[in-house]
Amino acid sequence: MTANVSIDYINHTYKGQVEPTLVDIAANIEPGEKLALIGRSGCGKSTLLHMLAGLLIPTEGCVRINGHQVIKPSAKWNMMFQKPSLYPWMNVRQNAQLGLDLAGIKDDGKVDELLELVGLSDKSEASVQSLSGGQQQRVALARSLATTPELLLLDEPFSALDAFTRSALQDEVARITHQQKLTMVMVTHDIEEAVAMADRVLIMSANPGRIVGEMKVELPYPRERASQQFSKTREDLMKQFDSLVGNASQAESEPESEKKSDREAA
Ligand SMILES: Nc1ncnc2c1ncn2[C@@H]1O[C@H](COP(=O)(O)OP(=O)(O)OP(=O)(O)O)[C@@H](O)[C@H]1O
Ligand SMILES: [Mg+2]
Repeated sequence: MTANVSIDYINHTYKGQVEPTLVDIAANIEPGEKLALIGRSGCGKSTLLHMLAGLLIPTEGCVRINGHQVIKPSAKWNMMFQKPSLYPWMNVRQNAQLGLDLAGIKDDGKVDELLELVGLSDKSEASVQSLSGGQQQRVALARSLATTPELLLLDEPFSALDAFTRSALQDEVARITHQQKLTMVMVTHDIEEAVAMADRVLIMSANPGRIVGEMKVELPYPRERASQQFSKTREDLMKQFDSLVGNASQAESEPESEKKSDREAA
Protein backbone atom coordinates (compact mmCIF):
# COMPACT_ATOMS: atom_id res chain seq x y z
CA MET A 1 0.00 0.00 0.00
CA THR A 2 1.21 3.46 -0.77
CA ALA A 3 0.24 6.59 1.13
CA ASN A 4 -2.26 9.30 0.45
CA VAL A 5 -1.19 12.34 2.44
CA SER A 6 -3.54 15.10 3.30
CA ILE A 7 -2.31 18.29 4.93
CA ASP A 8 -5.32 19.92 6.50
CA TYR A 9 -4.92 23.64 7.05
CA ILE A 10 -1.87 23.70 9.22
CA ASN A 11 -0.82 26.76 11.19
CA HIS A 12 2.19 26.50 13.41
CA THR A 13 3.82 28.78 15.94
CA TYR A 14 6.85 27.42 17.79
CA LYS A 15 6.77 27.65 21.58
CA GLY A 16 8.17 30.96 22.77
CA GLN A 17 7.71 32.57 19.33
CA VAL A 18 5.20 35.31 18.60
CA GLU A 19 5.07 35.06 14.82
CA PRO A 20 3.78 31.88 13.16
CA THR A 21 6.25 29.76 11.17
CA LEU A 22 3.60 28.16 8.95
CA VAL A 23 0.27 29.61 7.87
CA ASP A 24 -2.63 27.98 6.02
CA ILE A 25 -0.72 25.01 4.68
CA ALA A 26 -3.07 22.73 2.77
CA ALA A 27 -2.25 20.09 0.19
CA ASN A 28 -3.22 16.63 -0.93
CA ILE A 29 -0.57 14.20 -2.11
CA GLU A 30 -1.88 11.31 -4.16
CA PRO A 31 -0.71 7.73 -3.58
CA GLY A 32 2.53 7.24 -5.51
CA GLU A 33 3.00 10.93 -6.17
CA LYS A 34 6.45 12.51 -5.83
CA LEU A 35 6.22 16.00 -4.39
CA ALA A 36 9.03 18.52 -3.95
CA LEU A 37 8.84 21.45 -1.54
CA ILE A 38 11.08 24.32 -2.47
CA GLY A 39 11.65 27.63 -0.73
CA ARG A 40 14.28 29.82 0.80
CA SER A 41 16.19 28.85 3.88
CA GLY A 42 14.07 29.30 6.99
CA CYS A 43 10.67 29.28 5.24
CA GLY A 44 9.52 26.21 7.18
CA LYS A 45 10.17 23.28 4.83
CA SER A 46 11.77 21.05 7.46
CA THR A 47 9.11 22.07 9.97
CA LEU A 48 6.42 20.83 7.58
CA LEU A 49 8.32 17.63 6.76
CA HIS A 50 8.74 16.87 10.48
CA MET A 51 4.96 17.17 10.80
CA LEU A 52 4.47 14.67 7.98
CA ALA A 53 6.82 12.32 9.83
CA GLY A 54 4.94 12.69 13.12
CA LEU A 55 7.99 14.25 14.78
CA LEU A 56 6.22 17.55 15.40
CA ILE A 57 2.55 18.28 16.01
CA PRO A 58 1.14 21.45 14.43
CA THR A 59 -0.50 24.02 16.70
CA GLU A 60 -3.54 24.00 14.39
CA GLY A 61 -4.69 21.64 11.68
CA CYS A 62 -3.32 18.17 11.07
CA VAL A 63 -1.70 15.70 8.72
CA ARG A 64 -3.60 12.59 7.70
CA ILE A 65 -1.99 9.58 6.08
CA ASN A 66 -4.51 7.24 4.47
CA GLY A 67 -7.17 8.97 6.54
CA HIS A 68 -5.42 8.54 9.89
CA GLN A 69 -4.24 11.57 11.78
CA VAL A 70 -0.46 11.54 12.24
CA ILE A 71 0.40 11.92 15.90
CA LYS A 72 3.70 10.04 16.19
CA PRO A 73 6.43 8.52 14.03
CA SER A 74 5.81 5.17 12.34
CA ALA A 75 7.84 2.63 10.35
CA LYS A 76 5.27 3.17 7.59
CA TRP A 77 6.81 6.54 6.81
CA ASN A 78 10.52 6.98 6.74
CA MET A 79 12.58 10.10 6.80
CA MET A 80 16.01 10.51 5.25
CA PHE A 81 18.08 13.44 6.44
CA GLN A 82 20.92 15.44 4.94
CA LYS A 83 23.46 13.35 6.84
CA PRO A 84 22.93 9.59 7.02
CA SER A 85 22.63 8.65 10.68
CA LEU A 86 24.52 5.36 10.60
CA TYR A 87 26.04 3.52 13.55
CA PRO A 88 29.83 3.28 13.13
CA TRP A 89 30.11 0.08 15.19
CA MET A 90 27.76 -1.79 12.83
CA ASN A 91 28.63 -2.95 9.33
CA VAL A 92 26.69 -2.03 6.18
CA ARG A 93 24.22 -4.91 6.43
CA GLN A 94 23.54 -4.34 10.14
CA ASN A 95 22.89 -0.65 9.51
CA ALA A 96 20.60 -1.41 6.58
CA GLN A 97 18.75 -3.96 8.71
CA LEU A 98 18.29 -1.69 11.70
CA GLY A 99 14.79 -0.48 10.86
CA LEU A 100 13.59 -4.07 10.48
CA ASP A 101 15.25 -5.06 13.78
CA LEU A 102 13.65 -2.15 15.63
CA ALA A 103 10.24 -3.00 14.19
CA GLY A 104 10.75 -6.66 15.15
CA ILE A 105 10.39 -7.79 11.54
CA LYS A 106 12.38 -10.79 10.33
CA ASP A 107 14.64 -10.16 7.34
CA ASP A 108 13.69 -12.59 4.59
CA GLY A 109 16.47 -11.61 2.23
CA LYS A 110 15.04 -8.13 1.79
CA VAL A 111 18.20 -6.41 3.02
CA ASP A 112 20.37 -8.27 0.49
CA GLU A 113 17.94 -7.35 -2.27
CA LEU A 114 18.05 -3.70 -1.26
CA LEU A 115 21.83 -3.62 -0.97
CA GLU A 116 21.90 -4.96 -4.50
CA LEU A 117 19.39 -2.33 -5.58
CA VAL A 118 21.55 0.49 -4.21
CA GLY A 119 24.75 -1.06 -5.61
CA LEU A 120 26.35 -2.12 -2.32
CA SER A 121 26.18 -5.92 -2.45
CA ASP A 122 29.95 -6.26 -2.32
CA LYS A 123 30.17 -3.98 0.72
CA SER A 124 27.64 -5.67 2.98
CA GLU A 125 30.25 -6.75 5.54
CA ALA A 126 32.26 -3.52 5.33
CA SER A 127 32.42 -0.98 8.13
CA VAL A 128 30.26 2.05 7.31
CA GLN A 129 33.21 4.26 8.22
CA SER A 130 35.11 2.90 5.23
CA LEU A 131 32.37 4.13 2.84
CA SER A 132 32.21 7.38 0.89
CA GLY A 133 29.47 9.93 1.68
CA GLY A 134 27.42 8.76 -1.30
CA GLN A 135 27.75 5.11 -0.29
CA GLN A 136 26.71 5.96 3.27
CA GLN A 137 23.64 7.76 1.95
CA ARG A 138 22.86 4.60 -0.08
CA VAL A 139 22.97 2.52 3.12
CA ALA A 140 20.54 4.98 4.70
CA LEU A 141 18.32 4.62 1.63
CA ALA A 142 18.39 0.81 1.86
CA ARG A 143 17.50 1.07 5.55
CA SER A 144 14.63 3.46 4.78
CA LEU A 145 13.24 1.09 2.15
CA ALA A 146 13.71 -2.12 4.16
CA THR A 147 10.59 -1.63 6.25
CA THR A 148 8.52 -1.27 3.04
CA PRO A 149 7.35 2.23 3.90
CA GLU A 150 4.25 3.76 2.33
CA LEU A 151 5.85 7.17 2.29
CA LEU A 152 9.43 8.35 1.93
CA LEU A 153 10.30 11.77 3.32
CA LEU A 154 13.56 13.34 2.21
CA ASP A 155 15.06 16.45 3.79
CA GLU A 156 17.79 17.63 1.41
CA PRO A 157 19.34 14.17 1.50
CA PHE A 158 21.86 14.81 -1.25
CA SER A 159 23.00 18.34 -0.51
CA ALA A 160 26.23 17.30 1.22
CA LEU A 161 27.34 15.18 -1.76
CA ASP A 162 29.45 16.13 -4.76
CA ALA A 163 27.61 16.99 -7.99
CA PHE A 164 28.18 13.62 -9.71
CA THR A 165 27.18 11.47 -6.75
CA ARG A 166 24.24 13.75 -6.11
CA SER A 167 22.74 13.43 -9.57
CA ALA A 168 23.40 9.67 -9.65
CA LEU A 169 21.56 9.22 -6.35
CA GLN A 170 18.71 11.50 -7.41
CA ASP A 171 18.20 9.32 -10.48
CA GLU A 172 18.48 6.16 -8.40
CA VAL A 173 15.94 7.26 -5.79
CA ALA A 174 13.60 8.47 -8.55
CA ARG A 175 13.88 5.07 -10.26
CA ILE A 176 13.29 3.08 -7.06
CA THR A 177 10.40 5.17 -5.75
CA HIS A 178 8.82 5.15 -9.19
CA GLN A 179 9.24 1.38 -9.53
CA GLN A 180 7.79 0.74 -6.06
CA LYS A 181 5.05 3.36 -6.53
CA LEU A 182 6.10 4.96 -3.26
CA THR A 183 4.69 8.31 -2.26
CA MET A 184 7.56 10.72 -1.74
CA VAL A 185 7.85 14.20 -0.26
CA MET A 186 11.18 15.88 -0.69
CA VAL A 187 12.51 19.17 0.59
CA THR A 188 15.15 20.84 -1.53
CA HIS A 189 16.88 24.10 -2.38
CA ASP A 190 17.82 22.76 -5.73
CA ILE A 191 15.55 23.43 -8.71
CA GLU A 192 17.26 20.79 -10.87
CA GLU A 193 16.74 18.20 -8.11
CA ALA A 194 13.04 19.04 -8.00
CA VAL A 195 12.71 18.67 -11.78
CA ALA A 196 14.74 15.44 -11.77
CA MET A 197 12.66 13.77 -9.08
CA ALA A 198 9.21 15.27 -8.62
CA ASP A 199 5.82 15.03 -10.32
CA ARG A 200 4.76 18.28 -8.71
CA VAL A 201 6.56 21.13 -6.97
CA LEU A 202 5.13 23.36 -4.26
CA ILE A 203 6.79 26.74 -3.83
CA MET A 204 6.90 28.20 -0.32
CA SER A 205 7.40 31.81 0.72
CA ALA A 206 8.91 32.77 4.07
CA ASN A 207 7.82 34.77 7.15
CA PRO A 208 5.40 33.20 7.56
CA GLY A 209 5.81 30.02 5.54
CA ARG A 210 3.00 29.67 3.02
CA ILE A 211 2.48 27.72 -0.16
CA VAL A 212 2.43 30.38 -2.85
CA GLY A 213 2.72 28.39 -6.05
CA GLU A 214 2.62 25.01 -7.66
CA MET A 215 4.00 23.49 -10.82
CA LYS A 216 3.51 20.07 -12.34
CA VAL A 217 6.55 18.35 -13.83
CA GLU A 218 5.15 16.44 -16.74
CA LEU A 219 8.28 14.62 -17.85
CA PRO A 220 8.49 10.86 -18.28
CA TYR A 221 10.76 8.68 -16.10
CA PRO A 222 13.65 8.13 -16.30
CA ARG A 223 14.25 11.84 -16.63
CA GLU A 224 16.69 12.93 -19.31
CA ARG A 225 18.59 15.90 -17.93
CA ALA A 226 20.14 16.65 -21.31
CA SER A 227 16.75 16.91 -23.02
CA GLN A 228 15.23 20.16 -24.18
CA GLN A 229 12.04 19.42 -22.25
CA PHE A 230 14.04 19.08 -19.03
CA SER A 231 15.82 22.42 -19.55
CA LYS A 232 12.55 24.09 -20.43
CA THR A 233 10.82 22.75 -17.28
CA ARG A 234 13.78 23.83 -15.15
CA GLU A 235 13.64 27.30 -16.66
CA ASP A 236 9.86 27.54 -16.14
CA LEU A 237 10.20 26.56 -12.50
CA MET A 238 13.03 29.03 -11.98
CA LYS A 239 10.90 31.80 -13.53
CA GLN A 240 7.90 30.92 -11.43
CA PHE A 241 10.04 30.85 -8.29
CA ASP A 242 11.56 34.23 -9.21
CA SER A 243 8.19 35.83 -9.77
CA LEU A 244 6.67 34.45 -6.55
CA VAL A 245 9.54 34.49 -4.10
CA GLY A 246 12.37 36.53 -5.62
CA ASN A 247 15.60 35.84 -7.40
CA ALA A 248 16.13 32.07 -7.43
CA SER A 249 19.82 32.39 -8.16
CA GLN A 250 20.36 34.45 -5.00
CA ALA A 251 17.80 32.78 -2.84
CA GLU A 252 19.96 30.68 -0.58
CA SER A 253 20.78 32.39 2.62
CA GLU A 254 23.13 29.71 3.85
CA PRO A 255 26.52 30.81 5.09
CA GLU A 256 28.98 31.19 2.17
CA SER A 257 31.12 28.38 3.56
CA GLU A 258 28.30 25.87 3.25
CA LYS A 259 27.29 26.86 -0.25
CA LYS A 260 27.90 24.52 -3.10
CA SER A 261 29.06 26.57 -6.04
CA ASP A 262 27.86 23.89 -8.44
CA ARG A 263 24.42 23.74 -6.90
CA GLU A 264 21.49 25.60 -8.25
CA ALA A 265 20.13 27.87 -5.61
CA ALA A 266 16.43 28.13 -5.13
N1 LIG B 1 12.45 24.26 17.54
C1 LIG B 1 12.28 25.50 17.08
N2 LIG B 1 11.91 26.52 17.90
C2 LIG B 1 11.72 27.76 17.44
N3 LIG B 1 11.85 28.11 16.15
C3 LIG B 1 12.21 27.16 15.28
C4 LIG B 1 12.45 25.79 15.69
N4 LIG B 1 12.79 25.07 14.60
C5 LIG B 1 12.78 25.93 13.57
N5 LIG B 1 12.43 27.17 13.96
C6 LIG B 1 12.27 28.35 13.11
O1 LIG B 1 11.26 28.10 12.17
C7 LIG B 1 11.60 28.62 10.88
C8 LIG B 1 11.56 27.54 9.85
O2 LIG B 1 12.60 26.60 10.11
P1 LIG B 1 12.82 25.32 9.18
O3 LIG B 1 13.96 24.58 9.73
O4 LIG B 1 11.53 24.62 9.02
O5 LIG B 1 13.22 26.03 7.80
P2 LIG B 1 13.71 25.38 6.42
O6 LIG B 1 12.84 25.94 5.35
O7 LIG B 1 13.82 23.93 6.54
O8 LIG B 1 15.17 26.03 6.27
P3 LIG B 1 16.50 25.41 5.61
O9 LIG B 1 16.28 25.49 4.14
O10 LIG B 1 17.58 26.34 6.05
O11 LIG B 1 16.69 24.02 6.12
C9 LIG B 1 12.98 29.28 11.07
O12 LIG B 1 12.80 30.65 11.25
C10 LIG B 1 13.53 28.63 12.29
O13 LIG B 1 14.38 29.50 12.98
MG1 LIG C 1 15.44 22.57 6.50
